[in-house]
Amino acid sequence: MSENELTSGDFTEQNEPFALFAAWLREAETTEPNDPNAVALATVDKDGLPNVRMVLLKGFDSQGFVFYTNFESQKGQEILSQKKAAMCFHWKSLRRQVRLRGLVEVVSDKEADEYYKTRARGSRIGAWASKQSRPLEGRFALEKAVAEYTARYALGDIPRPPYWSGFRIRPLSIEFWHDRPFRLHDRVEFRREVPEGAWEKVRMYP
Ligand SMILES: Cc1cc2nc3c(=O)[nH]c(=O)nc-3n(C[C@H](O)[C@H](O)[C@H](O)COP(=O)(O)O)c2cc1C
Repeated sequence: MSENELTSGDFTEQNEPFALFAAWLREAETTEPNDPNAVALATVDKDGLPNVRMVLLKGFDSQGFVFYTNFESQKGQEILSQKKAAMCFHWKSLRRQVRLRGLVEVVSDKEADEYYKTRARGSRIGAWASKQSRPLEGRFALEKAVAEYTARYALGDIPRPPYWSGFRIRPLSIEFWHDRPFRLHDRVEFRREVPEGAWEKVRMYP
């Protein structure tokens, strides 16, 4: 099936969620004013209280959806303890939503190193300087930390901090939603019991 058929055809006829997601993301890259890969990431804390914030999707394939963060952050701690997460993309320009939820694994060191190397130097310094999600006494303390790490890594490569890496959500469900008139939207969910399992496709009332 060609890309065009995937993007312009009736998405509810599609039987493979990753190809459909790829087509929708590609389309969003041409229509969104910025960050088409921005996605709300939901986690749950040890008391079962949900938590949500935006991250940037940095990779996806049939293995899952990857983003990077500080593992000592609130989201990092929540995912490491619960091993579960959900995501929700909303592309306003396309009036489309994709939701997914599943089990989370840590990406390999090699994968994280390769991505880390592509980041701007300032972002690599920032990963060292930010104790993400912990109290900061003032902007000056952050700028001081940035200056210290800039001096420390003035020459040569900036290594990836041991607490900074990526998570891959291996979806157990992915739902595609497209706006239709009078709130009679199209919704299709792909479900499976285990990450390697076969997808069951279910259309749902809007
Ligand atoms: C559009 C957007 C993209 C973001 N991307 C990331 C990201 O990829 N990784 C990350 O750690 N934080 C990202 N952030 C910041 C997070 O939303 C959040 O403030 C931070 O990670 C701390 O979250 P936590 O305390 O729940 O761990 C992004 C924020 C926005 C608005």
